[in-house]
Amino acid sequence: MSGTSSTNSNTPPNDEGRVEDEKIIDGKAFAAGLRGRVKSRVDTFRTRTGCAPGLAVVLVGENPASEVYVRNKARQTREAGMESFEHRLPDTTSEKDLLALVDRLNRDPSVDGILVQLPLPDQIRADAVIATIDPAKDVDGFHTTNAGLLAIGGDGLVPCTPLGCAMLLEDRLGDLSGKHALVLGRSNIVGKPMAQLLLQKNCTVTIAHSRTRDLAGQCKQAEILVAATGRPRMVPGEWIRPGATVIDVGINRIVDESGKNRLVGDVDFESARSVAAGITPVPGGVGPMTIACLLHNTLLAACRRRGVEIPEGSAD
Ligand code: GUN
Repeated sequence: MSGTSSTNSNTPPNDEGRVEDEKIIDGKAFAAGLRGRVKSRVDTFRTRTGCAPGLAVVLVGENPASEVYVRNKARQTREAGMESFEHRLPDTTSEKDLLALVDRLNRDPSVDGILVQLPLPDQIRADAVIATIDPAKDVDGFHTTNAGLLAIGGDGLVPCTPLGCAMLLEDRLGDLSGKHALVLGRSNIVGKPMAQLLLQKNCTVTIAHSRTRDLAGQCKQAEILVAATGRPRMVPGEWIRPGATVIDVGINRIVDESGKNRLVGDVDFESARSVAAGITPVPGGVGPMTIACLLHNTLLAACRRRGVEIPEGSAD
């Protein structure tokens, strides 16, 4: 457990004018460390096999947010010493053509990981695409085989965002056994796999959602609160149990009270930080962990597919 710097709220601003705060769970710093560890293991992989792990990212159409994500994924993949294969298709692409590309990538031995950026245009069923990806190359962890393996505690590939949240929680709290965790949100990409991961780590898990009665009361009981609703600042500080650890998965673009564009989470950060013992900021919390975990999953998939063992924490 590396923990975070132990400063208190009276700590003066540092050189960059930021106030160090022991409550802040710094996902940006943790992600940088994780990328460094993946890179050293990739170096070992290359020395042993004579080739680099390869990640194929497929982008259909011109969604500006997806463009940014895909560019960042490709850059960080290369920086980690892996091969990045980018496939950009027009938004008129048919489902049949996309499935044919996925099939080609499944059979390409230089590709260890496949990620098809979501959302997809309306004529393409995301479920059909995910079902076509070879589960051994499904670095998003979205295939039903990987979802099933996570549910029974098997060795699959775990979705990147929940995996990153679990890493931040264990870094901050150590053993999570017996803790009462509330996951707010039930999506297949975050809420459900997050709940499965926390259960695997011996938490007592509640999943809450838009139809849950007394959301405030449910939140108030949680020692760990993971918010993944996609609703800006929906969780106020009064809902949070004093001393809880709060992981905010939301990345919502809003126009604030002074008319400025801002990114905010699903938790009202300012009121929550005075109640919680630890909280992820937005931006700089969970966001950077998602791509770092994608690199981690790509290396894991490459090691499994090629029968190479490079334990985490060892790079020789
Ligand atoms: N779109 C937004 N986030 C993700 C993600 O984690 N994986 C994929 N495939 N698409 C996304």
